[in-house]
Amino acid sequence: MLVVTAGGACEKSPDRSESMPEPAAAVAATTSSPGASSAAATASEAAAYTMSASPAQSRPDYERARWDPIHFKPAIDEAADEDCLRCHHEILDRRPLERSPAGIQAATSLAWYQQLTTYAGPQETFHRRHLVTPLATRLMSLRCNTCHQGSSPREEAPIPPVSGRADFALRKTVDPETTCLKCHGQLNYQLMGLPGPWPDVRETMGNNCLLCHAGIRTNRHRVTYLKAEAIDEAGKESSDVCFGCHGGRSWYRISYPYPRHAWPGMPEVVPDWAKGRPAESEARFVRQ
Ligand code: HEC
Ligand code: HEC
Ligand code: HEC
Ligand code: HEC
Ligand code: HEC
Repeated sequence: MLVVTAGGACEKSPDRSESMPEPAAAVAATTSSPGASSAAATASEAAAYTMSASPAQSRPDYERARWDPIHFKPAIDEAADEDCLRCHHEILDRRPLERSPAGIQAATSLAWYQQLTTYAGPQETFHRRHLVTPLATRLMSLRCNTCHQGSSPREEAPIPPVSGRADFALRKTVDPETTCLKCHGQLNYQLMGLPGPWPDVRETMGNNCLLCHAGIRTNRHRVTYLKAEAIDEAGKESSDVCFGCHGGRSWYRISYPYPRHAWPGMPEVVPDWAKGRPAESEARFVRQ
């Protein structure tokens, strides 16, 4: 069932099978007026909370919220982060456990990529690492709908595949190939003509991507979810910043086929690998 908390955030209770609010809570929600006694505070918050699906309906309803048109095309394309966070504030509030149930401390069990100089502060959730932590806000401006392109709450893939209580996946419609892979693929060193993988050859290049990229493929990062100037500044301080998104945190064994923007002094002959590559970023991200 849906629990409406201060600020109108929706949280789901552990029991997924119940879908309607408690009758008492629903009545309170429609009758109490804002600013009443503190005991009625939660109910008045609920009364103030209206569905974008149909403004006439003021009663909070789990199914209505779940099927709110904002989750789908075309509304999701226009959604601001605040619109999503109105119901999903847990996305920014949640923190990893400080200690696992078996007693392992988060602070002392860091993965290799959490020990890099660019990793600031304690362990954080996936969402916070892309939206609010220092490196994320310095280099990127990712938004909910950069990744979320329409969620179907239909129960598509129960895990485990049983008919009883189960968790569900594949209903968030985040396409890793057009999101994650752009920043978490391999460095395509063969294409660049480098003699080997970056960690093996970087010393000979002064650990400096800009040795070449001050002059090659200079028209880059002009997309809404990246801060192009800040990235070039940070890249001058350390190429680990560049490598971080171009091979350093590669969760994939393949590289992303980047669009090939024309740059001043670009050779006229198009190399074979680049034939068929787009010359512009994905339209929905192009920065004007
Ligand atoms: C009116 C409240 C409301 C708004 C606004 C809203 N959501 Fe939801 N959303 C829900 C509810 C309720 C569910 C169902 C949760 C469940 O069953 O686990 C849900 C489900 C989801 C899921 C699937 C969760 C899962 O565990 O499968 C995603 C992803 C999601 N919303 C993202 C978004 C994004 C992105 C936006 C903004 C574009 C947004 N939501 C706006 C209420 C809302
Ligand atoms: C970098 C891409 C990315 C961004 C940006 C992003 N999400 Fe997600 N989100 C994902 C992925 C991938 C999952 C699936 C995670 C999983 O299966 O556990 C997910 C899962 C979710 C879920 C359901 C599972 C959960 O963790 O509760 C909700 C709700 C959600 N996102 C809402 C949001 C909202 C709201 C925003 C903006 C404030 C946002 N997301 C920004 C990629 C993203
Ligand atoms: C625009 C670039 C970009 C995109 C797109 C992106 N990431 Fe990231 N990701 C980063 C950066 C930068 C970091 C490092 C953050 C830090 O160290 O503070 C990171 C860190 C991570 C981490 C480590 C988090 C931690 O705290 O240990 C995971 C896991 C991850 N990303 C998964 C994903 C997934 C899955 C997607 C697609 C849904 C995705 N990323 C999309 C740039 C991106
Ligand atoms: C020795 C010169 C050199 C160095 C050093 C170098 N690159 Fe490149 N890079 C190239 C060349 C050449 C290309 C292909 C240019 C073209 O499009 O014809 C390229 C292309 C790229 C591309 C686009 C790949 C694609 O699929 O279109 C990315 C991303 C990239 N480099 C990132 C980096 C990063 C990050 C570093 C440092 C870790 C780096 N490069 C270091 C020469 C270099
Ligand atoms: C926060 C993650 C991130 C960082 C840091 C980053 N890049 Fe990128 N880079 C991307 C993404 C995402 C794209 C693809 C953007 C698009 O679709 O146009 C890209 C594209 C490129 C391209 C292809 C250019 C073209 O023709 O469009 C080159 C070359 C490149 N980056 C080099 C670098 C160099 C050099 C640095 C360091 C100064 C760097 N990147 C730092 C995420 C990053």
